[in-house]
Amino acid sequence: MTTKRQSVHGQWSSRWAFVLAATGSAVGLGNIWKFPYITGENGGGAFVLVYLICVCAIGIPIMMAEIMLGRRGRQNPIMTMEILAKEEGASEHWRLLGLMGVLAGFFILSYYSVIAGWALAYIVQSVSGAFTGSDAKTVSKIFGDLIASPERLLFWHTLFMVMTMLVVARGVRSGLEKAVTLLMPGLFLILVLLVGYAMAEGSFAHGIEFLFAADFSKLTWGSVLTAMGHAFFTLSLGMGAIMIYGSYLPQDVSIAKTSFLVAGADTAVALLAGMAIFPIVFVNNLEPGAGPGLVFQTLPIAFGQMPGGVIVATLFFVMLVFAAWSSAISLIEPAVTWLVERKGMTRHMACVVAGIATWLLGIMTVLSFNKWAFTFTFAGEEKTGGAFDILDILTANIMLPLGGLLIAVFAGWIMSKKSTTDELGMEQTYSGYLIWRFLVRYITPVAVSIIMLKAVGIL
Ligand code: PHE
Repeated sequence: MTTKRQSVHGQWSSRWAFVLAATGSAVGLGNIWKFPYITGENGGGAFVLVYLICVCAIGIPIMMAEIMLGRRGRQNPIMTMEILAKEEGASEHWRLLGLMGVLAGFFILSYYSVIAGWALAYIVQSVSGAFTGSDAKTVSKIFGDLIASPERLLFWHTLFMVMTMLVVARGVRSGLEKAVTLLMPGLFLILVLLVGYAMAEGSFAHGIEFLFAADFSKLTWGSVLTAMGHAFFTLSLGMGAIMIYGSYLPQDVSIAKTSFLVAGADTAVALLAGMAIFPIVFVNNLEPGAGPGLVFQTLPIAFGQMPGGVIVATLFFVMLVFAAWSSAISLIEPAVTWLVERKGMTRHMACVVAGIATWLLGIMTVLSFNKWAFTFTFAGEEKTGGAFDILDILTANIMLPLGGLLIAVFAGWIMSKKSTTDELGMEQTYSGYLIWRFLVRYITPVAVSIIMLKAVGIL
């Protein structure tokens, strides 16, 4: 047996600290902002079904693989891949997988921070009572005014980046653990409340039908790729975030159980968000395919009409910011740890460098919604979101699935059975292990390849 490597950068205090941090990473804008709007754009039920299948058949096995690699390597993703490749007698080029992850996290955070900035701006709108009594038109104007102003977007983007880098600079224990422990349950409760409101006041049946009745005639290969990419995005997979969190995980924790827990919580939050939003969309005759503004143009209508709406709205956006915050931390953590462990920077210096680079790239997204909007076509679909859409497609539809595919190949084909059973804590003949191994060896590589090639029209 290989000796257990000691982490060079500390460990979680318990299994719960890891579950909370991983859930904090997974649950974020992806669940509440992105899932509803891409579901709306891709026709509803059939898209949701593909997403759910991808979470189960690809997402959970890859999450197990990623945590496993992280815990075995106990470094930043690049050095982890390097060490493990050497241990298994494979090419050291596997480090490029780690490098792609570091880059993907940096690209994602650049636009993620701008959207989180919308949520910050909406805290102020909520407190000031801007939504009180307002209808769909006023709410949509509030949103339109915000994204039309590069100055306002830049201000909130800057604030969010500063918040993120401050927490990251404080290191794993003090920074990360505390930030995620308290607010997740609160967010969950507010979503349940909003679903209750949608049941009472919205077109609930219509919303549920849209979300869960699968009409496959609406599904293109482009939508299938978006659904699969989102499974990676929402579970924080394919770029090393979960790998690095895994590197802090104590040796005696069950990787399989932990993965199911995190994926379950993440999926529940996304479905609740959808169940809260679509009934409001339909009762107000709004367009489900309205795009990235969907959450910001629908939930405020509900807040404006419910009793105590100012408080509920404020709490909701505060918690949304926290959910985004705990995800943002994990997006930049691989880059920061890499700068520290590889480039020899102090943690503070690494945070400044990574933070400024991300902030600068974020300006492209700030301008996407106003001064620098343009249209292009990808996988047969017209995209209107400019640089923001390019970054989103590049990361969620290309880099994360590719990263996931390579992680699956590494875990399934490069690592020996002995190494994987050893790290997962399973017997070689245990059925759960055999299913996992089958999924990472065959299903993930084949499914990801086919879907990607079909979507871009090569197959
Ligand atoms: N999972 C996060 C969300 O859904 C985003 C994220 C992606 C975080 C990749 C880390 C890595 O909002």
